[in-house]
Amino acid sequence: MQLFIDTANLDQIKKYAELGIIDGVTTNPSLIAKEGVDYKTRIREILKVINGPISVEVTTENFEEMLSQARDYATWHENIYVKLPMTENGLKACRILSQEGIKINMTLIFQPMQALLAAKAGAAFISPFIGRLDDISQDGMQIIAEIMEIFVNYQIQTKILVASTRHPRHIVDAARIGADIATIPPEVLEKLIKHPLTDIGQEKFMSDYKKSL
Ligand code: E4P
Repeated sequence: MQLFIDTANLDQIKKYAELGIIDGVTTNPSLIAKEGVDYKTRIREILKVINGPISVEVTTENFEEMLSQARDYATWHENIYVKLPMTENGLKACRILSQEGIKINMTLIFQPMQALLAAKAGAAFISPFIGRLDDISQDGMQIIAEIMEIFVNYQIQTKILVASTRHPRHIVDAARIGADIATIPPEVLEKLIKHPLTDIGQEKFMSDYKKSL
């Protein structure tokens, strides 16, 4: 399974890139706004750190503007994946842009039929937001399992990018189901690395080693 980092924070992207565990980056307008930086400048900085898919979201609901923003983003780098919202305009734009060879990540997916329609429109990635479903007492991971089943049934090549992950169990379950990618916020990535028994074991090895000197 590929692991993406879900942030626009350059220091965090650099930190996890150095660990060699990051295959790509997802951003959205909220994540960029949190950093208080210019969208294009930050994406250009990220492109220098990570050689993999970088998702950049359109910032309009207007169909024509979606097309022109997406075409502009696609000129920035071959690793750019344009995020379009799962709306009627987003779907229509997805079809046209995919046919032009622009890679689309269809975002804000909350049920399996949205995933199937986005795949039929040519999306390279679909992003189901599982944490936001859990937040309203639905089972986000169930949606991933259902999308996986449908995509396997019809040999659909669109990749399932599990988004809005909130804790390590989300990543474990996504991997067990066989999702292609999980995008993970830095605070969850940190938890994937750690285990208290690792820390206790390491501390003991170090203190025993010092005794043997
Ligand atoms: C993914 O592409 C989104 O940026 C992200 O996973 C959304 O997560 P949130 O629900 O925590 O905002």
